[in-house]
Amino acid sequence: MISSWFLFFYLVSGVCFILALKGLSSPLTAAKGNVFGIAGMAIAIVTTLLIPEGSVFLRYAFVLLAIMGGGLIGAKIARDIPMTALPQLVAGFHSLVGMAAVLVAITSLIEPQIFGIGVVGGINTSSLFEMAFGAVIGAITFSGSLIAFGKLQGLITGKPLRFTLQHKLNATLAALILALICFFVIFESYTAFFIFVILAFALGFLLILPIGGADMPVVISMLNSYSGFAAVGIGFTLGNTLLIITGALVGVSGAILSYIMCKAMNRSIFNVILGGVNIGGADASKDKKDDDKAVKIGSPEDAAFIMENAEKVIIVPGYGMAVAGAQHALFDMANALKAKGVEVKYAIHPVAGRMPGHMNVLLAEANIPYEDVFELDAINGEFATADVAYVIGANDVTNPLAKTDEKSPIFGMPILEVGKAKTVFFVKRSMATGYSGVENPLFFADNTIMLFGDAKKVTEEIVKDMENS
Ligand code: TAP
Repeated sequence: MISSWFLFFYLVSGVCFILALKGLSSPLTAAKGNVFGIAGMAIAIVTTLLIPEGSVFLRYAFVLLAIMGGGLIGAKIARDIPMTALPQLVAGFHSLVGMAAVLVAITSLIEPQIFGIGVVGGINTSSLFEMAFGAVIGAITFSGSLIAFGKLQGLITGKPLRFTLQHKLNATLAALILALICFFVIFESYTAFFIFVILAFALGFLLILPIGGADMPVVISMLNSYSGFAAVGIGFTLGNTLLIITGALVGVSGAILSYIMCKAMNRSIFNVILGGVNIGGADASKDKKDDDKAVKIGSPEDAAFIMENAEKVIIVPGYGMAVAGAQHALFDMANALKAKGVEVKYAIHPVAGRMPGHMNVLLAEANIPYEDVFELDAINGEFATADVAYVIGANDVTNPLAKTDEKSPIFGMPILEVGKAKTVFFVKRSMATGYSGVENPLFFADNTIMLFGDAKKVTEEIVKDMENS
């Protein structure tokens, strides 16, 4: 039995995690939030190591070795990973949480006495249920996250993979899993356990495969939520209060984030949970390329001239800005414009880039003032009064087909209405499509000028030109 002192420190660490979440909800308090998170985790680890359970060897030598090994690998990955590959890293890490839940459930089934939940053949009914819950959610999280990783890394096609009767197959699998869980809880059947775990792995694959392109952000946050609930199940099995609290925080905050993102993407949360998030047709990502259409191509000098003479410029950053690392150049450009009396604002789409808050983090890193940065709803009405929309490495989030083409995988997603500005600059390297694979008809609009090149280089050249003029 864990003493009340240890429970008290678990509570303190749980409170730290809540304060961390609160802090991370705003860029202004995010650093403080991180400090709370680190403190909470440090208290959690030290408290757990001090609990006098099991052999000293297991508690210190083995656990510390595992923490050091995992810590070193994690630190190396975190150092090497480019900012743009963070979503697949997160998906990869979620898969580990899912697998950990499955492994703990298997261990507690084989050696229940270690966890104080009964003996083989006589495990407490509630523990059997918790074990089954943790293992199923963990298995779905593991295989679903692997598919998400493969899609984001480009190892599997980003297009929705669909086949007939897919939803019926998923429903049948879910019903089978439920029936087997009941059988397992009543008869403590190992066979039932391993069959429903295998079925749950299959269900994870099948739920994520049909999700394509632009809807992956919602999936990542949903898998994040699943991994939290898997930890809750395991927390109950292990009788570990902190795991239950932390898992619940991850599960619920992930679910809230998924809900917010679903609203931003105009998607139904139930479709996400049931693996049918993509409401566009399966072949919808086929580009409607029309090579005969002409585009206007401008130079950094043209852009500098037009923007210097504007009254209002709205900057729309996207994934390409992150790839190029152009945020500091943007800061310089905005300052040069402000010095010439131009009003400068930034418009952030909720799924611009490749992870929630991607653009906000990069702009904050370049010390761009928060009061210049506006969310979609707050800025969309202003494009009609802007002289210039400077779209830097963004594509899908401005694509008007999201409003008009029902077959498009981005149909229904709200967009930044950049086309309403007097002049639109698209800074990108080529005519290539964005993440969803859909060509953007705005490139061919009369008021659009393409600025081909790396986002950072083009913006730096514009700044140089402004300084020389
Ligand atoms: P995208 O639609 O992916 O467009 C990015 C554009 O940046 C590309 O068209 C690319 O064109 C350009 N680009 C790439 N590298 C560049 C560089 N070095 N310099 C200049 N341009 C560069 O990005 P978006 O508008 O930000 O939309 C985000 C998309 O990702 C949405 O479909 C969203 O659903 C999806 N997504 C979002 C998230 C989250 S949570 N934000 C997670 C996963 C997926 P070129 O190749 O021609 O340069």
